[in-house]
Amino acid sequence: MKFTKTNDLREAYLKFFEGKEHLRLESFSLVPKNDKSLLLVNAGMAPLKPYFTGLQQPPRKRITTCQKCVRTGDIENVGITSRHGTFFEMLGNFSFGDYFKKEIIPWAWEFITDVLELPKDKLYVTIYLDDDEAYEYWTTLTDVDKTHIFRLGKEENFWEHGAGPCGPCTEIHFNRTSEIVTTAEEFLNAADEDKIIEFWNLVFTQFDGDGKGNYEKLATTNIDTGMGLERLATIMQEKNSIFEIDTLENILNEASNLAKVKYGEAHKIDISLRLITDHIRSITFMISDDVMPSNEGRGYVLRRLLRRAARHGKTLGIKDAFLCNLCDIVIRDSKDAYPEIEAKKEYIKKVIKIEEDKFRETLDSGIEILNGFVAELKENNKKVLKGADGFKLYDTFGFPMELTKEILEDEGLSLDEDAFHEEMKIQRDRARSARKTSNYMGADVNISDAIAADVETVFDGYDNDTLSAEIKVLIEGDDFAETITEGNKAIVVTDVTPLYAEMGGQIGDTGIIFNDSFKGNVCDTKKNIGGKIIHFVEVLSGELKVGDKVTLEVDRTRRESIKKNHTATHLLDRALVEVLGSHVHQAGSYVSNERLRFDFSHFEGLTEEEITRVEDLVNEAITSVTPVITDVMDLQEAKNSGAIGIFDDKYSDKVRVVKAGEYSKELCGGTHIDNTGKIGLFKIISESGIAAGTRRIEAVIGKEAYKLVNEKKDLLKEITGKFKCSEKELLNKLEQQVKELKEKDKEIVALKSKFASMGLDDIVACAKSIKDINVIAYELKDVDSDALRDVCEKVRDKVENSMVLLMSENAGKVIICAMATKDAVAKGAHCGKLIKEVSTILGGGGGGRPDMAQAGGKLPGKIQEAINESYKIVETLAK
Ligand code: ALA
Repeated sequence: MKFTKTNDLREAYLKFFEGKEHLRLESFSLVPKNDKSLLLVNAGMAPLKPYFTGLQQPPRKRITTCQKCVRTGDIENVGITSRHGTFFEMLGNFSFGDYFKKEIIPWAWEFITDVLELPKDKLYVTIYLDDDEAYEYWTTLTDVDKTHIFRLGKEENFWEHGAGPCGPCTEIHFNRTSEIVTTAEEFLNAADEDKIIEFWNLVFTQFDGDGKGNYEKLATTNIDTGMGLERLATIMQEKNSIFEIDTLENILNEASNLAKVKYGEAHKIDISLRLITDHIRSITFMISDDVMPSNEGRGYVLRRLLRRAARHGKTLGIKDAFLCNLCDIVIRDSKDAYPEIEAKKEYIKKVIKIEEDKFRETLDSGIEILNGFVAELKENNKKVLKGADGFKLYDTFGFPMELTKEILEDEGLSLDEDAFHEEMKIQRDRARSARKTSNYMGADVNISDAIAADVETVFDGYDNDTLSAEIKVLIEGDDFAETITEGNKAIVVTDVTPLYAEMGGQIGDTGIIFNDSFKGNVCDTKKNIGGKIIHFVEVLSGELKVGDKVTLEVDRTRRESIKKNHTATHLLDRALVEVLGSHVHQAGSYVSNERLRFDFSHFEGLTEEEITRVEDLVNEAITSVTPVITDVMDLQEAKNSGAIGIFDDKYSDKVRVVKAGEYSKELCGGTHIDNTGKIGLFKIISESGIAAGTRRIEAVIGKEAYKLVNEKKDLLKEITGKFKCSEKELLNKLEQQVKELKEKDKEIVALKSKFASMGLDDIVACAKSIKDINVIAYELKDVDSDALRDVCEKVRDKVENSMVLLMSENAGKVIICAMATKDAVAKGAHCGKLIKEVSTILGGGGGGRPDMAQAGGKLPGKIQEAINESYKIVETLAK
């Protein structure tokens, strides 16, 4: 057999189909586009669904890919069996209304027997029950052993995965043993025991399924094949498991080294090693496709995979975070086919490290909580942990059920697994109902998405702002229309347009559409799901029919501002990489005529210095007055030239590279100005975090930036006005004032304490001993009742055996407070009685307890008299 190395097998396959006139496309992202039925791409055909259904026209009718895929349906089995994995690469070749069964069957045979030289006596074929056509081609166009062909039912030989294009299939299998099977039943048994393994599925795609058993016939017959690269390598390398093939074995060996364990000696250890080996591949690839760990959707899938792998690492005895280094092996061995993982290496490592460290912390707190549960069970003489408690650990701390079980078992306890699964089911149902969709394109499908695939809409507005065009489609409300009339709103589709449709973060153009008998405003321009340009038009006068000729004109001023903002966004992207490092990648953007927003991967807030540096760099690029040039070139050529960025329309052979001198080179379909100088000025308005590891910068340029600077200037003017100084003096003045304030503060503190102690001494000094009680009667100036009480308390505490009476004039009236120590009360002091008499002198009334009383009076002029009298009153009260 030839091509045993996994990386060589991939190349051999793609080359073979290129030889059959297929266009080779790079793997699509793991994150599906325009497909709400899928969290992650799970088959080679998934990103190509619009070509099968006819919503989009493929760049060629024959395509071949090696697609990265993630499937988590069988996640519980990963590690336990030798063949389950969440990550795999799928080799595929596709025909969109081109070749069919008659071609693919002999080609598939040619590839596996001529190119790979697989021994024919080991090969088996299954076909769908009544697919006589497939049987005929297998038996007449190949030399497969007829007794090796079995007819199987829908379960085995009808391929569908959720909603989308599907159909009957024929599968090719490899017998790993020397046992010979002669009936379908024997075949199925051997397959169950992994003796015979399926490795290539050829699907005759003829239907569009809704995932609920309803099928609509597709307009054409198509081919979709899928061959798991790892499985094929297992056969070619004569291994027992996918974990032993060259690329995966490297990862597994590294994990064994880190854990200082050997593979193949203990079942439990092997499970952990296999699981880590698989999961780190999914983790690495998902992060490179910009999935971030989170609590929902694909972010949750990533988090779950990462936590499982981290937990198994800990179980193996690996002390520190290790996944962030293990990904190096994945990257080293797969970077040739997937350069994006090498390009984002530092970023991937950092995301893993942060999540891994975080989980290691929760892992410990989870164990603490579980220990609490264990103690409680023991205290109550119980043996089984409630399912809800186990689920809480799973849900909140990312504790897989097995870990909870293991720890419980060590303590002679168990988990109520049924109840645990019940909780799990409730959560899954909740998640499922949240994901409900009507068809694979999700709920977004509407009438504008149903525009026929053969309607061509060309954007020719890079160098034009006015163009003549022909009306191809009109839509009013929920229906296609032949005519639209005054006062209505409609969607207008033309064969060509100078208006840019919203894409890649750049908003759509506005403008006007007219001819001699019609005038309308274009309020927005977008693309439908199939990539057709649609104009949202408000009809001002006249009527428009399909086939009419019109002129489309862009709102030039607005377009010009959008262009400037877009070029500035590129400069910002470049400046961020320069200031923060190569891990910075665009995570989204919004470019309008008024402002720009740029989201990017970075892990902490930018410092003031970093923000200033970024702003400086962008402004330097602006003042360098550098020409902005757009070149159209091959994707590969663009990448070789060092251009960065994601190109939305990856199906076309040619891409646009926008260059601002040597400073910025980016793949971009947007509109740009021809010289950086036109941006004028760039100012950052804000920098903030929008998700873990993702930051956002908002900025303005040109006139808007000038406006911002002016606002700041006005503010400064207002401040200098208040300080009564010039701008130059402002800082000095401010510093001086701050200094003065500080000094005053100090002075106030000193005065306060001096005043308090000075005052008290004066008050205490007027004490008179009356029948062994130290009586103090005193007038305070300008205090409120709180302060009066406070001082009264302080004096009482300072003087033993005392009775204190304080009075003060307050807002034209008198406030009175009296307090006595316990020993004074024992000697007959009574504040209530004292105050009753004193307040009578002061024209008021009041009373209270022996140790404390308060009252008020209306005659401040009598305070001195009241003081004099008070000593006499105490004389009569005391024993
Ligand atoms: N789409 C088919 C599969 O995934 C080829 O098996």
